[in-house]
Parts: sequence; structure tokens; C-alpha cells
Amino acid sequence: MKALKEKIQQDGKMLSESVLKVDAFLNHQIDPQLMKEIGEEFAERFQGQGITKILSIESSGIAPAVMTGLVMDVPVIFARKRKSLTLSDDLYTANVYSYTKHESNDISVSREFINSGDTILIMDDFLANGQAALGLIDIAQQSGAAIAGIGIVIEKGFQPGRKLIQERGIQVESLANIASLKNKEVSFFEEVDS
Ligand code: G4P
Ligand code: NA
Ligand code: NA
Repeated sequence: MKALKEKIQQDGKMLSESVLKVDAFLNHQIDPQLMKEIGEEFAERFQGQGITKILSIESSGIAPAVMTGLVMDVPVIFARKRKSLTLSDDLYTANVYSYTKHESNDISVSREFINSGDTILIMDDFLANGQAALGLIDIAQQSGAAIAGIGIVIEKGFQPGRKLIQERGIQVESLANIASLKNKEVSFFEEVDS
């Protein structure tokens, strides 16, 4: 997606050879116009698949997921990382290991909001090692729902996330796929359709 790649080139900061900071439009300050275009792009890429719900994860997955849900006219659920006072006991839970934080944490979704009649689009802001995505897949599978695919805003294609998801037979769509962050430069893998 051209507008997103331009935004990354313009406002992204290379924190290291493997971490891209996008606090200016996605992870802290949010660019609503860009999020709207992202929602339209995902709706187009996943159209005709009978998606009934979008499943994302707090916090940075929520903005692109909501804009996609708006265009697709389906509800958006986000997995919670912390137990909340009002979150029911009746939960789907998955354990997610973070390679960056070297710790694992449970993520949860109320059973009230996903069931075997649903076809789910899973979404997140980043795909790196894929552990959050695998946790969301786990939760969707516990519910018995079908998984239409995974929509990712920024993929770090030099990390193994995509492979782990595709091994499970699940379609991955990312709107910007980073090949390298070396030498303080962002380079992207070419896309067929942009
Ligand atoms: P992984 O298995 O998907 O690689 O996750 P990992 O634990 O390594 O990443 C921890 C957090 O950092 C996640 O967000 C993930 O989306 C994000 N992340 C991974 N690589 C990058 C990167 O290069 N740039 C940025 N900006 N984020 C990255 P989180 O902790 O769940 O935070 P949030 O969703 O509340 O923002
Ligand atoms: Na995230
Ligand atoms: Na994040």
C-alpha cells in the first residue's frame, strides 16, 4: 500500500536493525485518514469471504481493526492482555511469548463475543515473530470459528511470523512488508498488487 509505505519512509524511525518506531501515526499518535485508507484496503483484500467479525489485540491493533470493521460493517473484538474488572470468567485464553520482553502473558477474549458460527479476520499492527498472531489463532480455534485470514499493517518480512502462520494454512495479507532496516534505511519487499 503506497500511502502507508510513504508514511513509513517519512515518519518511521529505525531504533535498531530490527525495530521500527511508528509512534507518529500508529503506536502512539494515530493518523485517522491513513487508518481509514488501511481499513478500505483490508476490506478489499478480504472481500467475499463471509467475514462476520474482526479479532485484534490491544492496544495498537485496535485502530486499524476498527476502521476495517467500519468498512466491512462487522463488529471488532480485541483480546485483552490484562485481567479487567468487568471481563467475565467465561474466557478463551491463550499464552503469548514475547521475544522482545522475554516473558509470556495470557491474552483473553470473552466467550460471549465469538462462536462457531463466526468467520473471523484476525488483525494486528505488526507481524514480527508471530506470537501474538498465533495466540489470536488459538483463541479463534477454541471458539470453533472459521479463520478467513490475517491482516497486518506492517510486516517485518525478515522475521519468521509469516511462515509460522502460513504453515497452519492461513492467508496473510500485510500492507507494507519490510525487507530490511539496515543502515538506517527502510526497504520493502515488492508487492505484486501495489
Ligand atoms: P512478536 O511475537 O509478534 O514478534 O511480538 P514481540 O513480543 O516481539 O513484540 C512485542 C510488541 O512489539 C508488540 O506490541 C508488537 O506488535 C510490537 N512490535 C514488534 N516489532 C515491532 C517493531 O519493529 N516496531 C514496533 N513499533 N512494534 C513492534 P505490544 O507490546 O503488544 O504493544 P501495543 O500493541 O500495545 O502497541
Ligand atoms: Na501489537
Ligand atoms: Na505495538
